[in-house]
Formats: sequence, C-alpha cells, structure tokens
Amino acid sequence: MNPRTCAEINLDNLSHNTRAIQEKVAPAKVIPMIKADAYGHGAIPVARRLVREGFEMFAVAQFQEAMELRESGIKQPILILGRLFPHDLPEAVKAGFRISLFGKEDIGWIEAAGLDLPAYVHANVETGMGRVGTLLDREPDFFDALVHASRCRWEGLYSHFSTSDEKDKSYANLQLSRFRKIVSRVQLLDKRPSMLHMANSGAILDMPESYFDAVRPGILMYGHYPSQETSQSILPRQAMTFKTYVAHLRDMPEGHPISYGRRWITPRRTHIAVLPVGYADGVRRGLTNKGEVLIQRKRYPMVGTVTMDQIMVHVGDDPIRPGDEVVLWGESAQGTIQVAEVAEKIGTIPYELTCGVSQRVQRVYIGG
Ligand SMILES: Cc1ncc(COP(=O)(O)O)c(C=O)c1O
Repeated sequence: MNPRTCAEINLDNLSHNTRAIQEKVAPAKVIPMIKADAYGHGAIPVARRLVREGFEMFAVAQFQEAMELRESGIKQPILILGRLFPHDLPEAVKAGFRISLFGKEDIGWIEAAGLDLPAYVHANVETGMGRVGTLLDREPDFFDALVHASRCRWEGLYSHFSTSDEKDKSYANLQLSRFRKIVSRVQLLDKRPSMLHMANSGAILDMPESYFDAVRPGILMYGHYPSQETSQSILPRQAMTFKTYVAHLRDMPEGHPISYGRRWITPRRTHIAVLPVGYADGVRRGLTNKGEVLIQRKRYPMVGTVTMDQIMVHVGDDPIRPGDEVVLWGESAQGTIQVAEVAEKIGTIPYELTCGVSQRVQRVYIGG
C-alpha cells in the first residue's frame, strides 16, 4: 500500500480536447494557453505532449513562465501575454518569445533596447475587456509607430473577450465588431501582421466568426466549459483527477463535534474518515459541510471545517478502510465529480480550482 495525494493528469484527455478544438476551428491554428503552470496541470509536460501532437505555438502570462519552458527544451514560439519591461527584452528576444505590446511606450522600449535581433511582437488592442490592450483612441498613432519601428517584426494582432462565456452574446459581438474595424484599418497599412487572434474557450464553442488565424483556448483544453452558459459544441474530458486517500478511520460517539468551530456534530455513533489534504493543497475552505468525495464508487459528504492539512468525511458504517483511494474531483474508475460542480458550490469557476492545486500536491502523468 503506497497511497498518496496527487493530481493525476491524463495527457490523452488533454490531447483529445485540444485536437477536438483544432478540428472545430480549422483552418485557424490553436495556440494552447499554458500559463499558470497550464492551469495547474504542469506546463512542461503539457507543452511536451502538445508539441508531439503538432501544436506550433504556445502562450503564457509571464516572462519567467516562458523561460522555464525554453529551458525545458520547448523550442516553439511562445507568446507572452503579460507586459515585458526593458530589462527582460534582450533575453526575451534572444529566446524568440513573442512580445505583447500594450501601447506605444512598449515600442519605444524595444527600439531603444539595442537589440541584435528583431523582436517578434503581437499588438494587443482594447475592444472592451478593459484589462490590458492599447486604447487606440488615446494612442491614434500606435500603428503608425509600429509600422515605422525598425526593431519590431509585427507578427500578431489580438484582443480578448470579456463575456464570450455568457449566453447573451451581444457584448461579445460588439467586441468582435470593434476588432474587425481595427483589422480593416490595419489592412491598409504598409506592414501587416500575419496572425489575427481573439477567441478564448467561450468564443471557440459559440462564435465561429471570431476564429481569424488562430484561437487561444485555455480551460476547454483542460476539460471544462468556461461557464454553464455556453453551448456544449465540444465534449471535453477532464484532464485532472485530484486524489487522496483515507489516512485514518475513527469510530465517533453521538453528539461529537468535528473540526474547528464545531460546525458539524455527529448525529449518532458513526465513522469519520480523515483525509490528509486541506486548503494548503487546494481543497477550498468554502467546501466546509458542502463538499463531496468518492470512495469505493460512492459519494460521501465532507463534514466539519476544512483545515489546512486534513478534512473529515462522514462514511457511516460502510466498510471503508485506511488506504482507500478518495477522489476529490475528476474522472476515474470510481466515477466522476465535475470540477464545475465543486466550483458552483462555492461560487467560483473551474479555473480557480485547478490553478489552486498547490505545489505540495504531486502531479502524476498518465497517458502516452
Ligand atoms: C489573453 C487570454 N487569451 C485566452 C485565454 C484563455 O481563456 P479560456 O481559459 O477561457 O479559454 C486567457 C485566459 O485567461 C487570456 O488571458
């Protein structure tokens, strides 16, 4: 018996999802989003698998994430969505990273950096997301500056949807029409980018008119819908199964409080399984008296406050034993608990849960 807490990552499921996306969006290309350690799934193994599947470009949020992938032997272009400051530019350009431009100032930094090689850039334009992206009203000469920038190789133009996962697509369509207007402006310029991209998972599912040259899926690749409001035009398989085991089984008397704050009291003499996992691993404290787990193919309720390193489960008089495997979420031989179901219980989204599985939890890779 060698039970452990782990996040089992099924790379075949990941490939299945990514290929399904590729088939749906073709001839557009897929830029897999592997930021935040591939949404908690492990960026390096995920990238290696997707390279084998033929994917040619990846995207991350930060310079450091891109460096880790390069150092692990990923040679493909990596788009960095976050902003790069001048001190990172020489290394980023040497590594061939694709640099996102947030405005004219960024072009100035590249021009002034004294680079030996040209910088491949993707201009991010604001269309309504309101996070990053050049506000063209404020910087009307942004494209002009880009066309004349001798150190910039203008490869991409992109924007990001704020509501493509909502049923009502009116705002997403407004963003799309703004992007199209920007694209028509760009088409009149002397220099033009070869890659236009905008669609995230919600738009991939529901807005084929937004595919352009490439799409940027994240959550759908990992097996989840971005919300419960999109269509299910792709049927993804969950890539992560979060597992632990029964560490201890306790025979408890009636009326005994369980865990901090006495938030659950045994209704009778019964059995409580103690699991060696808690909020430090990514089991959210909000699941106190709400969560469920699978043991021996049956669902059992989490009882009492979720603690840092341990949680308790009410198993009654069932023949549960120390060492038994426990599934917190995912697809397994024991059955399925959707991450979306767990997320819904605590008012969050699948993204936050998979990203929140901490480093203490070992990732175990299965599949080719
Ligand atoms: C710029 C950008 N593009 C694409 C994505 C992928 O989004 P999703 O995971 O909803 O597919 C993200 C994720 O947050 C993003 O920030």
